Amino acid sequence: MNHEGKRDWTITNGNGTTREMLFKFLVIGDYGVGKTAIVRRYTEGKFSSNYKITIGADFAIKSLQWDGNTKINLQLWDIAGHERFGYMTRVYYKYAVAAAIVFDVSRLATFQSIPKWLNDLREKVTLHDGCPIPIVLLANKCDIHGTSVPHDLITKFCKENGIAAWFLTSAKENVNIEDSMTYLVQKVVNLKAQEAHNDSIILRDSGRHGNTLSKEKSSCCG
Ligand code: GTP
Ligand code: MG
Repeated sequence: MNHEGKRDWTITNGNGTTREMLFKFLVIGDYGVGKTAIVRRYTEGKFSSNYKITIGADFAIKSLQWDGNTKINLQLWDIAGHERFGYMTRVYYKYAVAAAIVFDVSRLATFQSIPKWLNDLREKVTLHDGCPIPIVLLANKCDIHGTSVPHDLITKFCKENGIAAWFLTSAKENVNIEDSMTYLVQKVVNLKAQEAHNDSIILRDSGRHGNTLSKEKSSCCG
């Protein structure tokens, strides 16, 4: 998102070999599940066991050299989980292209809140073609041994709710933080490639038939 309200940037240099993209990702879920810890681990490589509640929303940037000619700047929006900030989510979600929904795998109640977060998200944000944004579920604090939300319950929930993947993560012990984020970035990159492909078909066809340009909805939504 830039100051003109665009969802992402693509900058191509003079000879067309380098592009730079900006993606806004959301990190949401109940308070205390480890959203800030995940963002901090991913962007700074650090972890602290002190709990400092997030007020409203925070954000952090992570730059990725995605491939030889693509740089991706990820803007990670770390949204406060406490209910008293819930009324602001529509504003925070604007222009997001993907989301990680986090729960604490050692606390069932935080898993039971996931439908609430998912509905809020699906109601308030879609890609500009109307498709739902890619989502990943993070079962955080997997380093805590003892009670755990049953894994088959998580898998079942994902299947029933069209969530393609979930990861056991630990911000504390750096388990799957990078992999889960890379998974989400790959999803968005694939959608962008699909979008560019659809656009090129429309352009080609409109050239062939001499039509005016019309942007059709992609049917992929996946
Ligand atoms: P809000 O800002 O209130 O929405 O909470 P949050 O989801 O950002 O939680 P935060 O990242 O602040 O973490 C809450 C507490 O859990 C802190 O004391 C963290 O140190 C701890 N924590 C976070 N991730 C992990 C983890 O993977 N393992 C363990 N054992 N503790 C964690
Ligand atoms: Mg926080």
